Amino acid sequence: MSAFPHRHLIGIEGLRPDEIVFLLDEAEQWVDFNRQPRKCDDRLAGLTQVNAFFENSTRTLLSFEIAGNRLGAQVVNMHVAQSSVQKGETLLDTALTINAMRPDLFVMRHSLAGAAQQVADVMDCPVINGGDGAGEHPTQALLDALAIRRRKGRIEGLKVAICGDIRHSRVARSNRILLSALGADVRLVGPGELLPSPAELEGIATSTDLNEGISGADVVMMLRIQRERLEENTSACLEDYQERYCLTRERLKLAAPDAVVMHPGPINRGVEIAGDVADDGERSLILEQVELGVAVRMACLDILTREHRTS
Ligand code: NCD
Repeated sequence: MSAFPHRHLIGIEGLRPDEIVFLLDEAEQWVDFNRQPRKCDDRLAGLTQVNAFFENSTRTLLSFEIAGNRLGAQVVNMHVAQSSVQKGETLLDTALTINAMRPDLFVMRHSLAGAAQQVADVMDCPVINGGDGAGEHPTQALLDALAIRRRKGRIEGLKVAICGDIRHSRVARSNRILLSALGADVRLVGPGELLPSPAELEGIATSTDLNEGISGADVVMMLRIQRERLEENTSACLEDYQERYCLTRERLKLAAPDAVVMHPGPINRGVEIAGDVADDGERSLILEQVELGVAVRMACLDILTREHRTS
């Protein structure tokens, strides 16, 4: 059996711990490659990679584009704002249309949870989920895990506090699943209204108090409020949000002395994270996360096309 027996990468859910470690190990190999002045490999030469992002993105879209280019693929971005989606074409009709052009890889982001799976069900090539609503964001969790593993040397046994808008965050979900699968002790911290439903939280440690939630943590992962996904009546809990949930230098003292701070971006300075904490070169991994995102995406593009390239 292949070390990665999946055709698509839709979520972390359903991956075995050894499959996750395999993806991380493969990504690790691209880190030094990406630090060279010349960054070209031709293993995806002749393959067409289509990126279709129906939701805004800076890091994810650009790093998938850079990753494909560095591996020699022909990378094409669909311009959603100028596409027939604006004329009422459905997601599945759009997917079938792109599929007819015979891409070899399809990377997508969409506001609907489950969208990537729906598209994967009708497409002939591997589909990578770059974020589906409040569903999953598997490559973000992989790059976060790689950043933690490189800094801390391990994931097992680490105390990780994921803080902020957990309920609407695909990053929180994918990270919780991945980090728990690799043996980290994960806690979710945020206002009650922004924590998932009790059914989803079974067996997971939570706190509505940031000071308590981050105390002793080895990793403090901060998340943006997903304003685009908030239900109308949620604004009440946001009034004193900064005061209660912003990670300040003072608060960070409650975490382990060598704790690192993470954030998938985009950050809202002074809302969920103080500017000086985000910019702290010793503690903050934020820009390293971005750097490692390219390596992780190169590994995913490479692994998912391996069989196709050699058949
Ligand atoms: C995240 C996303 O889009 O899910 N950003 C990212 O991919 N780096 C987080 C967010 O938008 O808050």
